[in-house]
Amino acid sequence: MRKNIVAGNWKMNLLPEEGVDLVKSIIELDRPNDVVSIVCPSFTHLHAIREVLNDQSQIHLGAQDCSTHDSGAYTGQISAPMLKSLGAEYVILGHSERRAYQGESDELIREKTINALHHDLQVIYCCGETEDIRIAGNYIEHVLSQIKKAIFNLEETQIQRITIAYEPVWAIGTGKVATPDQAQEMHAAIRKSVANHYGEKIANSMSILYGGSCKPSNAKEIFSNPDVDGGLIGGAALKPADFVALHHSF
Ligand code: PGA
Repeated sequence: MRKNIVAGNWKMNLLPEEGVDLVKSIIELDRPNDVVSIVCPSFTHLHAIREVLNDQSQIHLGAQDCSTHDSGAYTGQISAPMLKSLGAEYVILGHSERRAYQGESDELIREKTINALHHDLQVIYCCGETEDIRIAGNYIEHVLSQIKKAIFNLEETQIQRITIAYEPVWAIGTGKVATPDQAQEMHAAIRKSVANHYGEKIANSMSILYGGSCKPSNAKEIFSNPDVDGGLIGGAALKPADFVALHHSF
C-alpha cells in the first residue's frame, strides 16, 4: 500500500528556536493518522527539533541534502551518518535549487542517493522541468531522463525506499501551480516508467509527491489525482495551520 505524505521543505528559513516553535505548533493541531508527516529543516536545527519529537508526535525528521562521502576533507559538507546520528530518517536529494545554485548533476545526485540509502536514510528524490522545457514540449522526456540517470540503477530493495517528488521548476515559490491535469500527466508517466523498469508492484507502492506552490487552496484538486500521493511543500510548510491543512486535503 502506498502512503500519502506531506513533507515540509523549510529551505534556508527560520532560526533553530523558531523551527522548534513551528514543530510544537504542528504537534498541537489535529492531523489524520493515515498521512505521513515529514519536516525537513536546516542541518543546524535537526538536533533541537529531534528533542521535541517523540512517538506520539508522529512527525518524521528529514534533512535537505547530504554528501556523497562518509567523512574526510570535505569542508562544509554533511554526511549521511551524521544525519542518521541526529535522528534524521529522510533526506531530500536533487532539489532544483541545489541543481541550479550548487550545480548538482544527475550523476552527483545518483551518488548521493546510493550513499544515503546505504546509511539507511529514506530519500525524497526531486525532479522537474524548467519553464523553457515545458514550453518546448519535451517535459516528460526530460523528467524521465533525470529519474533514469539518478535512480534507475538502484536495486529493488533500494528503490522501495525512494519517494519521488515531481516539482516543476516554474512552479516552485512562484505562486504558479501545475494544474491537476498537468500534475497527473507527469505523475502517471513517472509511475509507468518505474513500472517498466521495476515492475507494477514496486511502481504501485511508490509514493509520488507534487511540489511547487502547493497550498491548502489548491491541494485538494491536485492530491485527488490517482497518481499524486501528497506534496513536498515549501512556503506553506512554514505556517503550522497551512501545513496541517494540507494533511486534510486528501
Ligand atoms: P514551494 O516550494 O511550495 O514554496 O513552491 C516547494 C519546494 O521547493 O519543495
